[in-house]
Amino acid sequence: MSKFIIQGQAKLSGEIEVKGAKNLALKIIPASILIKDEIFVTSLPDIKDINKSLSLLEKLGASIKKNENSAQINSREIKETTLFEGHAKTFRASIMFVGPLLARFGEVSFPHPGGCVIGAGRRPIDLFVEGFKALGAELKQQGNYYHLKASKLSGTEYFFPSISVTATESLMMTATLAQGTTVLKNCAMEPEVKVLADFLNNRGAKIKGAGTPTIKIQGVNKLKGGRARIIPDRIETGSFAIMAAATGSELTITECEPNHIQILLTIFDKIGVYYKKEKNKLHIKQTKSLKPYNIKTHEYPGFPTDLQPPYTVLMTQAKGTSLIHEAIYDRRLLYIDLLSQMGADILMCDPHRAIVNGPTKLYNRKLTSPDLRAGIALLIASLVAKGTSEIDNIYQIERGYKNIDKRLKAIGVDIQRKNE
Ligand code: EPU
Repeated sequence: MSKFIIQGQAKLSGEIEVKGAKNLALKIIPASILIKDEIFVTSLPDIKDINKSLSLLEKLGASIKKNENSAQINSREIKETTLFEGHAKTFRASIMFVGPLLARFGEVSFPHPGGCVIGAGRRPIDLFVEGFKALGAELKQQGNYYHLKASKLSGTEYFFPSISVTATESLMMTATLAQGTTVLKNCAMEPEVKVLADFLNNRGAKIKGAGTPTIKIQGVNKLKGGRARIIPDRIETGSFAIMAAATGSELTITECEPNHIQILLTIFDKIGVYYKKEKNKLHIKQTKSLKPYNIKTHEYPGFPTDLQPPYTVLMTQAKGTSLIHEAIYDRRLLYIDLLSQMGADILMCDPHRAIVNGPTKLYNRKLTSPDLRAGIALLIASLVAKGTSEIDNIYQIERGYKNIDKRLKAIGVDIQRKNE
């Protein structure tokens, strides 16, 4: 496993550029299955999950020409409708291929998607399956595979019993080629949902209301080729902003969309992190003293679960007590134990809530990154800590943050990558 060696008590300075949003690119790639023509995707983040997604698409029969930050994708020749276990089980977002294959071919076979450790047991796919059934598909299970079949998909009304980003996007894509009108209610409102809908509409789809709780999709027969631009990753933006605040550094985050992390900026106003927002730029000023503030993770525009672990690290440096309430995932506070090993004073109340008492000094440790967002949190904690820390299993961090070591070096961090 590769590891990072990080020198603590770091001060960052200069500019760091945000890459394209992983969680949009992971939907645009499978959306290409709906289009029997070429699409050209720009600002594509060159990270592991994206490369897995492109390779899954290629296995199905698409032709792909990839450059560092763009890809030309042509899905016209796809004939395969089975997502093979070897590929699909390695990442959760493989589930995003199911709806487009079902919509285009009337059938699809797939294993339970794999992925990281944050959900309870296997992360469920019940909302997807219920939605596909509502559109007219039949489900069979055989061995490790699910099979969905539909002689035709028909518009329907479906109310999500709980809000899910990927299930919203999946049914929206599937209904694009169904017959008649589909109304989805209690939808996720993340910016990525809206941008995916805008992309599909520019390709000929008829989707209204994306970015609100109710999305109405009038099915069309076909979509045409064209371009897609991936918006800046709001979780990268927020991670870098928290990194600067936690280390008391002045940092400019470029190529970002500050409005997409409005909730974090509103909390910065309360806890004493000063910043200046410009179009596509966010300047974080030097933080001298931090106040505590409670958070409860929530669907957009609430506090993103993906920023909860970095925010918890920030609260270890605030003077007073803060409550961290993780309301979306069952296993997203497991890293707390690692922060405690570094010297943080955190009390786990139950699997969803932790109380942080600050400020505490953090100390260098040898740590293993449990998942992507816990991994970046440990990296931030290592930058704050006294001494030299080691983070193992950095594959988990690199799934979401491209070349993070090189980019941090460029803003003054002493970080080495050791390949083992
Ligand atoms: N859920 C169900 N049934 C389903 C689907 C989801 O019960 O069929 C539950 C989940 O177990 C969870 C909750 O619904 O408790 C929310 O999950 P959601 O479906 O919204 O998450 P997701 O769509 O699987 C996306 C991002 C995550 C991000 C969440 C929340 C992608 C590929 N993933 O996941 O990103 O945390 O939305 O914003 O878009 C990450 O980038 O680190 C990451 C995990």
